[in-house]
Amino acid sequence: MPGDRRPPLDSPRAGSYIGRMPSAERHGSPKPERDLSGIQPSGELHLGNYFGAIQQHLELQHEHPGEAFFFIANYHALTTTRDRELLRQRTLDVALDYLALGLDPEKAVLFRQSDVPEVCELSWLLATVTPVSLLEKGVSYKEKVQRGIPASAGLLTYPLLMAADILIYRATVVPVGEDQVQHIEFTRDMAGFFNNAYGRGEEILHLPVARFSPGKKVPGLDGQKMSKSYGNTITIFEEGKSLEKKVMGIKTASIPLGEPLDPETDTVFALYRLVATPDEVEEMARRYRSGAIGFGQAKKELLEKLDAHFAEARERRRALVANLDRVEEILAEGARRARAIARETLDRCRDAVGIL
Ligand code: TRP
Repeated sequence: MPGDRRPPLDSPRAGSYIGRMPSAERHGSPKPERDLSGIQPSGELHLGNYFGAIQQHLELQHEHPGEAFFFIANYHALTTTRDRELLRQRTLDVALDYLALGLDPEKAVLFRQSDVPEVCELSWLLATVTPVSLLEKGVSYKEKVQRGIPASAGLLTYPLLMAADILIYRATVVPVGEDQVQHIEFTRDMAGFFNNAYGRGEEILHLPVARFSPGKKVPGLDGQKMSKSYGNTITIFEEGKSLEKKVMGIKTASIPLGEPLDPETDTVFALYRLVATPDEVEEMARRYRSGAIGFGQAKKELLEKLDAHFAEARERRRALVANLDRVEEILAEGARRARAIARETLDRCRDAVGIL
């Protein structure tokens, strides 16, 4: 099994490519890169999602305009959600959120995973060449089962569908967080199994590389990493009183007013740093250290910055909610573009195995 000989993948370097470098970087060749990422529709987005992943996602549309693909992984979500209304709503929410935050449908391709059902067929073809023992090594699978998620066949074969997602669009680069690195390794393994079994010396499925982008560290209200499962999030589209209440409730050290504060260990400052300019951050650090500001005032200024930072996105989201037809149109156009590529890849695979 190729998986057995490789070094462990637990600590990739930031910004590094895992697997071969993309061909354009190796040869300076003009072969276009195609970035692809799937987004789980898992509920309201928070600042951790934004500064940890979405911001980097959105940069890709400028790096490779026309070749940045994003889809909403609603088939995958069925491994953990059984509420049809919630799934529908959350799927739409991802589209609204990404469009509001700056996804430009002229530059990026946005679609629902399920609008390209061809991925399920490719997933089956991959299943027939993939050993069960590989899937059983899945750390994400094991971790989810441990958390109490039912160990369905779908949960075990999640990586097959994910590999199909990536391979069917002939993606070259998949930007991922650390938790997804093994899935990309599996994808490369599966592409290799398929090519070995059916390629007759040719590469039918293209092996992608992972681009590991760690994103920025975002602390939550209690100072731990911001995460839905810790219940310490500030959501992006929260505003008014409810946002104010959260920001004012951020946990801080108990230091009397007028005493110096340490910006390096403070949550309010860490969040401020994400939404203020470098000059403003420096000035704030100076006020912290000199005792010229207390936590209450710092929180007020953080709140202002948050409001300013996301004002445009909130406005755009409201406009999109009032024009859902437009959102559907964007998703349909994305699916049309994605599906044409998927059909081509799938037909090649069907032909290779002898069912076309
Ligand atoms: N597993 C990914 C996650 O949980 C979501 C995903 C599904 C994905 N298919 C993908 C990511 C294809 C990148 C490429 O975040």
